[in-house]
Amino acid sequence: MPTLSVNVDHVATVRQARGGKNPDPVAAALLAELAGADGIIVHLREDRRHIQDRDLEVLRKVVKTKLNLEMANTEEIVQIALRVKPDMVTLVPERRQELTTEGGLDVLGQQTSLKPNIARLKKAGIRVSLFIDADPRQVKASKGAGADLVEIHTGKYADAPDEESRKKEFFRIARAISQAHRLGLRINIGHGLDYQNVAPFTALSPIEDYSIGHSIIARAVLVGLDRAVREMKELITRK
Ligand code: PXP
Repeated sequence: MPTLSVNVDHVATVRQARGGKNPDPVAAALLAELAGADGIIVHLREDRRHIQDRDLEVLRKVVKTKLNLEMANTEEIVQIALRVKPDMVTLVPERRQELTTEGGLDVLGQQTSLKPNIARLKKAGIRVSLFIDADPRQVKASKGAGADLVEIHTGKYADAPDEESRKKEFFRIARAISQAHRLGLRINIGHGLDYQNVAPFTALSPIEDYSIGHSIIARAVLVGLDRAVREMKELITRK
């Protein structure tokens, strides 16, 4: 059965809008767990635009499911990960001007900087996932770089302008999942998944975890986090 990890970055985005204490992403994480989330995800960005160091520290102490830290492959953030020890990290590309993570990691082009840090993180007992596009070269390079998992980027699928290109993206993702599985990698998916577009993925296997943030937090503003998480969990586990 696939699992659902809830990204609570956008709870912190609302808090940072006023620079105070509310709403607290830690409270959101606990409520998400109570509603059935199987994991909590935060992205500690280099510019600290939403999640703060304090959030990560407190989450490490209170998350009872699985804490997945999204992070750039930089020495500062690697050091933080090694100290805080989330259950797993997902390495993502990061650019200051972007609204959210835009493309997958270029594992092929960055083997030299990725390999040693993946090894350091794994040695500390942290599972390492690489966020990549559904590109066979990147899947292969992820295996070569020593990753435990890959998270296949579903952004292009989510943003597809028409049904035909959406189908094309879906099959590209399906092929990447099969390839990663054959290579012995575990597979997560995420980015841009919402209540309208997530259902087709239940036909693919093996998907271990769905990483979903914006759509759940956006729905939570209107219907409450408990219901928003339950409704998404129901969609991804429905057969
Ligand atoms: N996976 C990765 C690697 C991401 O960077 C993000 C966005 O923080 C997500 C999943 C979640 O994307 P969304 O907020 O669109 O659900």
